[in-house]
Amino acid sequence: MGDALEIKDSSLQDEQYKIMTMIDYGSFGDIYKIFSLSEKKIYAMKQIVFRGIVTDDPYIMSEIWCLNNVRHKNIIQLRDIMLRDNRVDIIMEYAEKENLEKVCLDEGPLSMTFILDIYSQILEGVNYIHSYGVAHRDLTPGNILLTRNNVVKIADFGLAVRCCSEDGCVDILCTDFLGNTSYLAPEVLTRTHFLARPADIWSLGILLCYIVYLDVPYKGLEPKVLQDQMEQTWREFVKRFTDNVEKSNLVGQVLEKCLVINPILRVTIGELLKHLTMNT
Ligand SMILES: Nc1ncnc2c1ncn2[C@@H]1O[C@H](COP(=O)(O)OP(=O)(O)O)[C@@H](O)[C@H]1O
Ligand SMILES: [Mg+2]
Repeated sequence: MGDALEIKDSSLQDEQYKIMTMIDYGSFGDIYKIFSLSEKKIYAMKQIVFRGIVTDDPYIMSEIWCLNNVRHKNIIQLRDIMLRDNRVDIIMEYAEKENLEKVCLDEGPLSMTFILDIYSQILEGVNYIHSYGVAHRDLTPGNILLTRNNVVKIADFGLAVRCCSEDGCVDILCTDFLGNTSYLAPEVLTRTHFLARPADIWSLGILLCYIVYLDVPYKGLEPKVLQDQMEQTWREFVKRFTDNVEKSNLVGQVLEKCLVINPILRVTIGELLKHLTMNT
């Protein structure tokens, strides 16, 4: 499955790439804007420092495995992986507008046309990875990147997992409690066994709240969050903003489908994409 992974020696990097600026202090590693001297082209580099043996680090290996295997116009494309001492450099295509959170803060509130365009591209990317048997598990605006031409590139596969058996027949249950808590589904917050794909769908609902309202209904890890989720207080949250009728219809329908407490009853990515396509 997928291409064999070639990990190069980072000492080659000095001749091939020049660091231009730092983009972000990532939680797993710093991100740089770099320039390929041979191609005369800009890339982004995520530099992750690890302890021990790189292949023993599940987060680094998950990110590398996914980027190396998943190819889609709405998923960030891997260029190179380089290893030196205790550092791995992941070189990938550069998304000029960086992340969606930044775009929302700089340019928001965004127009409904723009929101629906971006959101359907996000769904296309998630549909692809879910069909491939991979769940992202960290679908937040900071991990949705945008190019100069507003093409969505889903990034940051550090928490991603294979969520079904090789033949695609058996769903694998997750037990780990990870990710940005405001975006976590109730079944993840309760730290029970959960299915990763429906948990991604919940995050897609919260993500839509953020893009439309520039805010999220459930904050942090307050003990009340789970109770609020059960009481579906997101409806109250959305009501605060429904003076704009244009926003309320389709957005409301999508939220109704994504933010369903029971993960088994939650919409699948295929159904969600179909609903959006048929109504835009
Ligand atoms: N390929 C890229 N092009 C442009 N900006 C990027 C790229 N990759 C990451 N970034 C920027 O760096 C931030 C952190 O990257 P990310 O991979 O999400 O790391 P972390 O694991 O630390 O969250 C992103 O939110 C984005 O702003
Ligand atoms: Mg991230």
